[in-house]
Amino acid sequence: MYEAVRERHSTLRSQDAAVLEDPVGESLRGHHAGLARRLGQAAAYLPEVASFSAPSPAAGSADWSDLARLLGRGAFADMFSRRATPPPDWEPVFIMEGRQMIWPGGRPVQARAAIDTGLVELGAADVPEMLDLVARTQPGPFWSRTHELGTYLGIRTGGRLVAMAGERLRPPGWTEISAVCTAPEARGRGHAARLVSALAARVLARNERPFLHVAETNTAAIALYERLGFESRTQVTFRGFRTP
Ligand SMILES: CC(C)(COP(=O)(O)OP(=O)(O)OC[C@H]1O[C@@H](n2cnc3c(N)ncnc32)[C@H](O)[C@@H]1OP(=O)(O)O)[C@@H](O)C(=O)NCCC(=O)NCCS
Repeated sequence: MYEAVRERHSTLRSQDAAVLEDPVGESLRGHHAGLARRLGQAAAYLPEVASFSAPSPAAGSADWSDLARLLGRGAFADMFSRRATPPPDWEPVFIMEGRQMIWPGGRPVQARAAIDTGLVELGAADVPEMLDLVARTQPGPFWSRTHELGTYLGIRTGGRLVAMAGERLRPPGWTEISAVCTAPEARGRGHAARLVSALAARVLARNERPFLHVAETNTAAIALYERLGFESRTQVTFRGFRTP
């Protein structure tokens, strides 16, 4: 399946898709440099923003010790975005199979998504509600300052936040759509579809392309993204480690 998609996207200039091989490192060294901690070539997000970290692109042993020093002793390192394996004294914490999905080049999003007036932009004042919704729905990692990575949109019913989604990683030319979640009592009403479509419209409007990551077991979300037009690009292994 992934090969077929690669084939279909062969018109993409190679550097366009190459950044999707290390979206965390590309974001930390680029668009999100202001939200990064760095030591040598190693980089990681500020802890309240995200637990993602990236060793140097070369990832030799000195680079791994830079990353370990940057994060501190016994710290959690979420390294889903690269296949590089840390030294054996880094304790594996979890491993989970997933996939990276991308918006096909040249495909426009539904025109009405760009003018969906039922969506609200979420900010610092909404963080307690966002954290509560994330705790109830488990869309993936989300912290008190994650919303600073990009635009987060929500849907309120009776004043209560029932669904949200937002922008996370920003490798050059791409924006990741993330934290897609709907409260259990509000599912099946098209909330997630509206939010993802609106975010995709915003991304495309600035001449970037949307992409996202999803766990392989999350068949409901994969079906939703496929229905909206996303295609699977590659398999990804989400991996977390504890530093020595
Ligand atoms: C995946 C998720 C975001 C979908 O949210 P949602 O607002 O229900 O999504 P939508 O209503 O836009 O689309 C869901 C689809 O399932 C259908 N559906 C019907 N009943 C449903 C129900 N009780 N629950 C969920 N979906 C239902 C909907 O009709 C829709 O299909 P359609 O587009 O063919 O009509 C939501 O289930 C969720 O929060 N899951 C947990 C967090 C998560 O896994 N997030 C994704 C991380 S990558």
